[in-house]
Amino acid sequence: MNNNIGPIAVFDSGYGGLTVLDKLRKQMPDYDFIYLGDNARTPYGTRSFDVVYQYTLEAVKKLFSMGVHLIILACNTASAKALRTIQQKDLPLIDPQKRVLGVIRPSAEVISSYTKTNKVGVLGTIGTVQSLSYPMEIEKQSAAITVYQEACPMWVPLVENGEANSEGTDYFIKKNIEGLISQNKDIDTVILGCTHYPLLKDKIKAYMPKDTTILSQGDIVATSLVDYLKRHPEMDERCRKNGELTFYTTENVDKFKQTAGYFLKEDIEVKHIHL
Ligand code: DGL
Repeated sequence: MNNNIGPIAVFDSGYGGLTVLDKLRKQMPDYDFIYLGDNARTPYGTRSFDVVYQYTLEAVKKLFSMGVHLIILACNTASAKALRTIQQKDLPLIDPQKRVLGVIRPSAEVISSYTKTNKVGVLGTIGTVQSLSYPMEIEKQSAAITVYQEACPMWVPLVENGEANSEGTDYFIKKNIEGLISQNKDIDTVILGCTHYPLLKDKIKAYMPKDTTILSQGDIVATSLVDYLKRHPEMDERCRKNGELTFYTTENVDKFKQTAGYFLKEDIEVKHIHL
């Protein structure tokens, strides 16, 4: 086996990152991917900085030991709470040639091309919202934009439990959208800052003012990664391209298969992994 070349890994606390993986595969069909869901320890959204950092670092180390050179933290909470420390403190010690990238910066980079009012909303987990990662990253890219955030703690459990389309879910969507809009009625662009929220997009749209632009991250992250690999041919050379995909979960394989099928709408093979 050639250890200098390996699949790109997509990591998430659970199933939500499959919405990102789906778009990555569409834009990069030749590349090999590994998906790792830490389903046994999900959700990350309500956990402390230290715990999210520890869990994410364990996953990163495991994926590197499996021959991966490039990891995408599809999870916003992990991107918000663990990415910077891993990039600055851990990577230089583990292997300076390897890379871990997140999903917040790619979203922040494109936001100014969507908003006309310069009032942007972010919907995310408590962890993502409290980290202030989105306001800080967006301000770095475009100081004219003001960011309004709303934490939606019930949305992930509703999706994880297969309730995305049920009537009861409307109550929580309406409540949080009203919470966001009440902060500024001129918000014209909203980032779905959590991997699970694209599955609620129709309901979110229904409670938003009609002309609001709602941005899912999958395509944004995929476009950004394609661009990254063009600018970093030395990393692109280390990404295997047989179009293969392997799924790993820290929880029950059959449960993952069933729920992932709901996200991806296809039959998949899944392996168990211990972090
Ligand atoms: N995947 C996480 C995110 O994007 C949400 C799920 C969780 O709380 O673990 O923030």
